[in-house]
Amino acid sequence: MIIKPDGTARRRVSSLVLQALLDQGYKIIAFKEMMVSESLAKKHYSVHSEKPFFPWLVDFISSAPVLAMIFESNNVIQGVRDALGATFVQKASPDSLRGKYGIWAGINIAHASDAPETATSEIALWTTEGGLVESPEAETFARAYIKKYIDGDVDYTMRLREVVKNAIETQDSSDKPLESLKDLFSKDAADIHKDKTDALAKVVFDFILEEIEKTK
Ligand code: RTP
Ligand code: MG
Repeated sequence: MIIKPDGTARRRVSSLVLQALLDQGYKIIAFKEMMVSESLAKKHYSVHSEKPFFPWLVDFISSAPVLAMIFESNNVIQGVRDALGATFVQKASPDSLRGKYGIWAGINIAHASDAPETATSEIALWTTEGGLVESPEAETFARAYIKKYIDGDVDYTMRLREVVKNAIETQDSSDKPLESLKDLFSKDAADIHKDKTDALAKVVFDFILEEIEKTK
């Protein structure tokens, strides 16, 4: 599972997601905060390489840090996917993690492997190219992350959704939504450089511009 940049840059949200999964009893055996290289991003999403959203998806996952992890438990693949909910935030049930914390459409806080075969190949890829390592301390690191950030700043999900929704609805392609996104993504991003949260804001803004273009 990968908590994508929009999740990781909101420290409180990422710790709430982690806590929810640990509360289900899943065991974490690897845990790492990292930037994703373009090469790793392209390989990770190679199944989507022919889709029109592929270049955007590569930019999105490599814009700012992610939290990469491996869970090991019975039925954990289906369990995590069920907990995340539908791919598109607007279609995800309001009590699912994407429904609660996702921002808009595919800006949906997390990726999870969808079958044992993809989990095996993704673990191999993230281990060799991403430096993800299994460690008996992974769970301790994850719990320390939660403890550090769970009582942090407020959750900016609703404000981020508002900015994206309003910009698309009013076809606002000015710098105003971009500046709001930069501001909101930097508010609870402890230890992540402003250049990174700005890059994430820019990718979300690119999504807004593409949506506006579609309606023309
Ligand atoms: P994931 O792979 O990230 O766990 O998500 P998923 O299985 O639920 O969805 P998938 O179809 O594999 O799509 C991968 C990610 O691509 C983005 N996406 N954007 N603009 C679009 O039409 C579109 N479709 C997919 C989302 O970020 C999705 O999670
Ligand atoms: Mg998928």
